[in-house]
Amino acid sequence: MNRNIAIDGPAGAGKSTIARRVASSLGAVYVDTGAMYRAMALYFLRQGIKADDSDAISRAAEGADVTIEYRDGEQRVILGGEDVTPYLRTEEVGNMASVSSTNGDVRAKLVELQRRLAANTAVVMDGRDIGTVVLPDAMLKIYLTASVAVRAARRVKELVEKGENPDPARVAAEIEERDHRDMNREISPLRRAEDAVLVDSSDLSVGEVTETILKLYRERLNHPRVIVAKTAGFCFGVRKAVDKVYEAAGNGTPIYTFGPIIHNHEVVADLEKRGVKVINSVDELEDLKEGTVIIRSHGVSRAVYERIENAGLSIIDATCPFVKRIHRIVEQESAGGSQIVIIGNAGHPEVEGIVGWSVTPASVVGTPEEAGRLRLDPGKPVCIVSQTTFNTIKFQELVDILKCYGYNINVVNTICSATRERQEEARSIASQVDMMIVIGDRTSSNSAKLYDICRSECVDTLFIQTRNDLTRNLAGGEKVIGITAGASTPKNIIEEVQNYVYAGRREF
Ligand code: DC
Repeated sequence: MNRNIAIDGPAGAGKSTIARRVASSLGAVYVDTGAMYRAMALYFLRQGIKADDSDAISRAAEGADVTIEYRDGEQRVILGGEDVTPYLRTEEVGNMASVSSTNGDVRAKLVELQRRLAANTAVVMDGRDIGTVVLPDAMLKIYLTASVAVRAARRVKELVEKGENPDPARVAAEIEERDHRDMNREISPLRRAEDAVLVDSSDLSVGEVTETILKLYRERLNHPRVIVAKTAGFCFGVRKAVDKVYEAAGNGTPIYTFGPIIHNHEVVADLEKRGVKVINSVDELEDLKEGTVIIRSHGVSRAVYERIENAGLSIIDATCPFVKRIHRIVEQESAGGSQIVIIGNAGHPEVEGIVGWSVTPASVVGTPEEAGRLRLDPGKPVCIVSQTTFNTIKFQELVDILKCYGYNINVVNTICSATRERQEEARSIASQVDMMIVIGDRTSSNSAKLYDICRSECVDTLFIQTRNDLTRNLAGGEKVIGITAGASTPKNIIEEVQNYVYAGRREF
C-alpha cells in the first residue's frame, strides 16, 4: 500500500505550509505542484507569451524543461538547468500560472512528472487535482480550505510583513476570482475527492491543522483500507420484489410467497414475523383456502400460475422484468419450432421457471461437460438463453462449445446488466486487494458466482453470510480489503460487515 498524502484546496488555504510540516514529521518528501505550474508560467512569460494565447502556451509547453531537485530536504524547481525557485512566488507568475494551468498540454506534462515523483517514495503532495487526478490511490486525501475572509486576511498580513500596503478588498476579490477559475476550469477542476477528508483551517492554527492530518494518517495506518463495491447488495428486481411483499404484509389477507422471497434468512425471518408464510411446492397450494401468493423475482413456470389461479388464490407478480423477458423469448421461440437451451444451473428456481415456459422440452447446460454431452436435433434451429445471474465469461465458453456442433444457433445473452456490472466490479476490486469478502446467502447462486470470480483474482477470498461468519482477525498489516455482496444481500448486513472490517485495528 502506498503511503502518499494528497492535499488539495483553494489558493491561500495554507496547503504548502501544512504539507511541508506533515512531510517533515513523517520523513516523507514534500512536493509542491503549484511551484511546477509557476515554473511553467515563468517559462511562458520569459518567452513573451501572453496569458490569453492558449495556442502559443500549448506549443511552448513541450519545450519547457521542468524538473525537481531536493537540496537539504527543500524542493527546488529547475527550469532548463536553472534553479528558478526564488522567482516563482510573484504576483505576475501567480497570475500567469492561474491561466496557463488550465491548459491541457501543460497539465499532461506536469501530472506525469508528479506521478513519477510519487512512484518510488512516500510523498506529501499539494495542489488542486492531487487526490482527484494525480494520485487517486493516495492513502490519505485532505481537502484543506478556509473562508475567503480568513484567506484574504492571511494574505494581507503576509504582504504587510513584506513591506507592502495592500487593499484588503482587492486581495479578497482576487482570491474569489482564483477560486472561480480553479473550480470551473474544464480540465481537472479543483474539487474535493469523494474520499477526501475536509479540513477547514479557518479557526485552526498551523499546528492544529498539522496535528489533525498526522492523526488521520496514523488512523489510516491502523486500519485496513477497505474498498466496498458500489454495486454490492439488492439489485433492482430484488428490491422491487421485497418491497412488494412488505407492502402486501399486513393488508388483512393471508400472504404467501412462492419460495422464499430472496435467498436470505434474515429477510425471510423478518417477513415471517409479519405473517408472511413461505410455500415450497405447488402441492401446498391445495390446502390454502384464501389469500395472495407473491411470485418472487426468480419467476415461476406457466404451470405454477395456473395452479395458483385454479386454487382460487390471487397473485402478486414480483417476477424480475429481466426474467419475464426470458419467459417470453422461450415461449415464442419454442412455439416457433426452436429447441431451447438454457445456460444456467439446473435446479435453480429461476431456471426451473424458465424451463416451464418452453412449449417443448428445454435443455439446461451449466458446465462444459454438460455442453459436450448435449445432443440436439441438427435439423431444427436452436435458441440459447441464459439464467440472468450466470457468469458472463462462462456463458461465452459454453456457447462456444455448443457452436462446435454446427447447429443453427440463435444466442440471446439474457444475463442482466445488474449481474454484469456486479461481476465486473467484483473482478476489478478483487484484482487490487489483499483480501476479498463476498457477502451472500449460501443458497444464493449469484453470490456464489461472485465468490468464484473474486477467488480467481484473489486467493484470499471469503464467502460469508453475515458478520458473525467473520471470525478471522483482520488486524495485522496494511491490508487492502474488498467487499462485495450478492443481489439478495440486504444493506444492513453489508453495513455490519463493513463496520466490523473498518474496526479491524492493529497495534500501532
Ligand atoms: O498553489 P499555487 O498558488 O502555487 O498554484 C499556482 C497555480 O497553479 C494556481 O493558479 C493553481 C495551479 N495549480 C493547479 O492547477 N494544479 C495544481 N496541482 C497545483 C496548482
